[in-house]
Amino acid sequence: MNLTTLETPCLILDKKKLKNNIQRISKRMATLGVNLRPHGKSAKNIDAMRMALEGQEGGITVSTLKEAEYYFEQGIKDIVYAVGIAPVKLPRILRLIKQGAEITLLLDSTQQVRFVAEAAVKEGITLPVLIELDCDGHRSGVTLEDDSLIAIGTLLHETQGVSLKGVLTHAGESYQCRSTEAMTAMAEQERSCAVACAEALRHAGLPCPVVSVGSTPTANFAEDLSGVTEVRAGVYMFYDLVMAGLGVCREEDIAVSVLASVIGHQKRKGWVITDAGWMALSRDRGTAAQPIDQGYGRVCGVDGAPLKDLIVSGANQEHGIVSDRNGEAISWESCDIGTLVRILPNHACATSAMYDRYHVVDASEEIVDTWYRVNGW
Ligand SMILES: Cc1ncc(COP(=O)(O)O)c(C=O)c1O
Repeated sequence: MNLTTLETPCLILDKKKLKNNIQRISKRMATLGVNLRPHGKSAKNIDAMRMALEGQEGGITVSTLKEAEYYFEQGIKDIVYAVGIAPVKLPRILRLIKQGAEITLLLDSTQQVRFVAEAAVKEGITLPVLIELDCDGHRSGVTLEDDSLIAIGTLLHETQGVSLKGVLTHAGESYQCRSTEAMTAMAEQERSCAVACAEALRHAGLPCPVVSVGSTPTANFAEDLSGVTEVRAGVYMFYDLVMAGLGVCREEDIAVSVLASVIGHQKRKGWVITDAGWMALSRDRGTAAQPIDQGYGRVCGVDGAPLKDLIVSGANQEHGIVSDRNGEAISWESCDIGTLVRILPNHACATSAMYDRYHVVDASEEIVDTWYRVNGW
């Protein structure tokens, strides 16, 4: 079976690129002397995760309970659920723990400590917890200056049903950096924030064995990770146009693409119409704010090589509009109706989420496997 036998649109994963991407970061982490806790939210698939865990201690990160349940069923026990906790999530978490999973929770308020502890005590268990830190103003978390850091730490340490395991931060603002120097500086900001908060907890007589940081840009550009015990990253497995635009990877490193068919021509406008609209690509326009706007995706031939300056410049639900970003003429003879193209995504996690499986190739157009994804919550 090769790509020409597939019905479009569908999702293609190049195993060779996946492996290279994984090995590159694994080597970096080994050089920096720190364990990698891969994030399962990008691939949402055990085969990719097993590859990512080679040479690591074995723990993973997840962003949904569906991922936690799936990876646990596949034999992974040590799981950090790296999203703030709400009471409604606790029954599933407690069920997983009773089955043998080692789930660590994340929170950033004393209110959360109280309801987590109450639920855990009722079940007769103790839940390990990380305090979420805000290292860059990106999202949630407490800062070193907040009184709540020590207040949460103390409550976690003193309350039955919970235990203080450490601190966690994610430099999501690294996606807004515009140079490698800025990403290196952001990596240091992420590290120093986590280490300073860990030190403050220890200074207050509290335990803080885990100091967890990470995002794909900071994992790529960190020069020193002293004081950090683990790095989390997810999209590094696949990479995407946003990462290429940041200079974190090259376009040719991007391991996932959407296979689409040409379904029409709008010659007056210089448009090729495909069957990959935003349902196939997602509505993510992450490159819109970057120096090179890739529209809804970069268009490549079925062999994966970019086609001149073709991008998906517009998208309706089931139609993609392909045009040349510089307004150059289209070579109509090379894109007959039915011609296959491969579209590189802006954001690999968002595009992959539109599909339930990967058609896996290995540096060729031959399909070597089908890997399923665990979507939903
Ligand atoms: C808490 C947390 N850790 C790690 C990551 C991984 O970041 P990336 O996908 O840039 O590797 C994310 C991504 O959203 C995250 O939310």
